[in-house]
Amino acid sequence: MATPLSPTSNFFFFIFTATLLYIACTIPRPEEKETKQTNIVFYVHDYFTGNDASAVTVAGISGPTSSILHFGTIAVVDDTVTEGPTIESKEIGRAQGVYVNSHLDGKALYMAFSVIFTDGEFKGSTLEIQGSDVFSMKQREFGVVSGTGYFRFVKGYGIMETPFLDIANFNAVIKLNVTVKHY
Ligand SMILES: *[C@@H]1O[C@H](CO)[C@@H](O)[C@H](O)[C@H]1NC(C)=O
Repeated sequence: MATPLSPTSNFFFFIFTATLLYIACTIPRPEEKETKQTNIVFYVHDYFTGNDASAVTVAGISGPTSSILHFGTIAVVDDTVTEGPTIESKEIGRAQGVYVNSHLDGKALYMAFSVIFTDGEFKGSTLEIQGSDVFSMKQREFGVVSGTGYFRFVKGYGIMETPFLDIANFNAVIKLNVTVKHY
């Protein structure tokens, strides 16, 4: 005949199970490395005209001089990136890549560019930005798909605003507020 478990052995069984559970929960799992979150705000000076022009249309339905506001136009940019909203504020990098007007009515750009940090806290690192820019909207959200250096393995998003816009001369200052997760 089986002896009923004594209160003492029940107690030890409970302690044993609790200890195992505790150990299982505290052992760090290698694939679950802790993720960090970084927020950065910077300004991109996107000038298609003037002495310090850094953006140029290269192709489109009317040839290289097509307007960036028309569907099908491709522009290449090497824009100054600064810490603050004015061009006089500290230059911390360049935004290099392409914009393609990809909206039939001309109202949105497809952007694919690298933000190459050349100074400041993230000097030597890059962020890869890709997504749609419906530039008539006050705030636009875009994706941050990868990065290098400090930003290896990043994924995230950003919010874009245009604090300065001179539509007649195709010059703009764009504020990018980026939030990324990485290791
Ligand atoms: C940046 O965006 C976050 C939301 O993603 C917001 O909480 C924060 O206030 C923004 N910062 C600036 C300076 O705009």
